[in-house]
Amino acid sequence: MQERLALLKKQVLAEIAAAKTPAELERLRVRYMGRKAGELTLVLRSLKGLSEEERRSVGQAANALKDELIEVLQKRRTQLETGSANEAIDLTLPGRKRFVGYRHPITLVTDRIVEIFAGMGFEEILGPEIETDWYNFEALNIPKGHPARGEMFGNFYLPGGLLLRSHTSPVQIRVMENMPPPVRVIAPGRVYRRDAFDSSHSPVFYQVEGLYVDEGVSFADLKGTLEVFSQEMFGSDIGVRFSPSYFPFTEPSAELSISCVICGGAGCKVCAHTGWVEILGCGMVHPQVLRNVGYDPDKVTGFAFGMGVERIAMIHYRIDDIRHFYSNDLRFLRQFRET
Ligand code: DAH
Repeated sequence: MQERLALLKKQVLAEIAAAKTPAELERLRVRYMGRKAGELTLVLRSLKGLSEEERRSVGQAANALKDELIEVLQKRRTQLETGSANEAIDLTLPGRKRFVGYRHPITLVTDRIVEIFAGMGFEEILGPEIETDWYNFEALNIPKGHPARGEMFGNFYLPGGLLLRSHTSPVQIRVMENMPPPVRVIAPGRVYRRDAFDSSHSPVFYQVEGLYVDEGVSFADLKGTLEVFSQEMFGSDIGVRFSPSYFPFTEPSAELSISCVICGGAGCKVCAHTGWVEILGCGMVHPQVLRNVGYDPDKVTGFAFGMGVERIAMIHYRIDDIRHFYSNDLRFLRQFRET
């Protein structure tokens, strides 16, 4: 008899759990616990033929089971009615991962460049992206009508004689106007030129500008500083080469090339079979630029440099098309999971 009760219990509990509506529950209640023909009721009725002792123990068990089942039924009914059954928590489910963003490769490389120069005493500063003619050109020794205005940079002009800065060099002027020498600053930022997109050009890109002015700063300081930078950035076995160049705001001016990181200097497509890759422009600050900001070129000298961050990043990560940086293709961006 006890066995029959246990079996019945198992069966009823399973059916209650599987019930999907209160109506189904009601049917179960009548079927098992109904007064007239409920299965449990029948068990209780059948006790008559048993001995006194058996009747007591089985009766107690059957009554307890009835109470228990009614309670379970009641709970299931509330669950179904409030809809809370759907919110049951499955502790075995794997957790939901939060989406974590990563720094963009351009940000990573900008931060690395700034960090290297910070290690040599350069202080990070920022300047505005909308500039006046004075800061973007005049003060940098690029007067109106100077070929460098059109040749080096096609510009985005704004109403009121303003323009989107075509390089970060104007930050040099802003710094020197605002503080007496010595100055030693590094200025990262976005710049704009009227270039169409191709594999090596973008109308918006990033530069890092450097400036060091003090008494007795020489070209040897420039060379030493930029050689250390190149080796920190690209590896201690990298070779550096300075070649003469021209910029209106420096005299003398130079370009810095590093030995090709792809072929090690043997010659390949990336270095156009020269073994060298140009990475930045630099030079000694032109005396006229120093005068323009109220510095005395007989007392102080300085060097400056400017580099394109995309170019550095392309060499560093071996990327062959600048447009990858701006396409927002997650398959590309997810490769740079440094934090
Ligand atoms: N402003 C230059 C450009 O955008 C880069 C540059 C060259 C910056 C020489 C400098 C420098 O400070 O000394 O092409």
